[in-house]
Amino acid sequence: MRLDQVFKSKPYKVIRSGSSTIGNSIIALFLEDCISGMRANLRNSSIDVVVTSPPYNIGINYGAHKDNLPRGKYLDWMDEVAAQVKRVLKNRGSFFLNMGSTPRDRWIAWDVARILANHFVLQNVIHWVKSIAIAKSDAGNYPNIISDIAVGHFKPIVSKRFLNDCHEYIFHFTKNGAVELDKLAVGVPYQDKSNIGRWKSAKEDKRDRGNMWFIPYDTINSRSERPHPATFPVKLPEMCIKLHGIRNGLLVLDPFLGIGSTALACLNLGVSFVGFDIDKDYIDEAIRRLLMESRRKMMRKSLAS
Ligand SMILES: C[S@@+](CC[C@H](N)C(=O)[O-])C[C@H]1O[C@@H](n2cnc3c(N)ncnc32)[C@H](O)[C@@H]1O
Repeated sequence: MRLDQVFKSKPYKVIRSGSSTIGNSIIALFLEDCISGMRANLRNSSIDVVVTSPPYNIGINYGAHKDNLPRGKYLDWMDEVAAQVKRVLKNRGSFFLNMGSTPRDRWIAWDVARILANHFVLQNVIHWVKSIAIAKSDAGNYPNIISDIAVGHFKPIVSKRFLNDCHEYIFHFTKNGAVELDKLAVGVPYQDKSNIGRWKSAKEDKRDRGNMWFIPYDTINSRSERPHPATFPVKLPEMCIKLHGIRNGLLVLDPFLGIGSTALACLNLGVSFVGFDIDKDYIDEAIRRLLMESRRKMMRKSLAS
């Protein structure tokens, strides 16, 4: 892919992620406000998939961004972001928006979703489950579940009123609500194998996973391993991109790239990426993570050959 065919100005950093079975891909990072950055650099209908998590306006301590705008101003800003995303997204593109909330502001995720509905159709609502407890007695007769389980990580909420928050939303917006997805790319094996062949659609040992996605954070030992206050795991954008469907020349956008989780997902999948953030420290950390992963990939490749 030639950069000058995609972007109008020079990115802060470009990483060529090499050739893969689906072609040559690039990762382009812009140290720039996403609205002016998208306006200046991205052409109409040039993006296949957007995966992003904006600031939730809940007072998180970011480096360069102030996360406490008056509600109306924040929603107007999200409206402007959505208008730009709509302009750059292809007609058959997917826009995955991750939003969470807090006990003090339960509506924020849905308020933003309502604003985006001015521009898009809400095709799917996915629940990103960070932690879950399953009692053996509720699971029934599954041979692999041998006792009660409680898995995943969450930030505990110390309160007599509020439960720990163990999930967030992934709103899947499209332009017309009719974008066909590659559901089996994130499918799960049938528990009851006699379903294979029984249903017309069941040609292999995989079924639609549904909209509850258990994606735990990696365990870390210190903050310095993840120097950003609000990331999602790399597996989250990976699953969104696979669900949309991977094909030659796919271009993914994250307008709020943070420390580059969506960019890393693209590197792993061998697809191209463009992202924006206003914080130099976060982008530099994204570059560090990407170069490390790209070195790991090269080492794995040379060991295999
Ligand atoms: C929720 S975080 C995204 C984290 C990312 N998903 C990750 O896993 O690293 C939101 C990011 O938006 C960035 N941001 C805030 N205002 C911005 C703007 N106007 N343009 C681009 N990025 C912005 C913040 O610096 C922050 O890194």
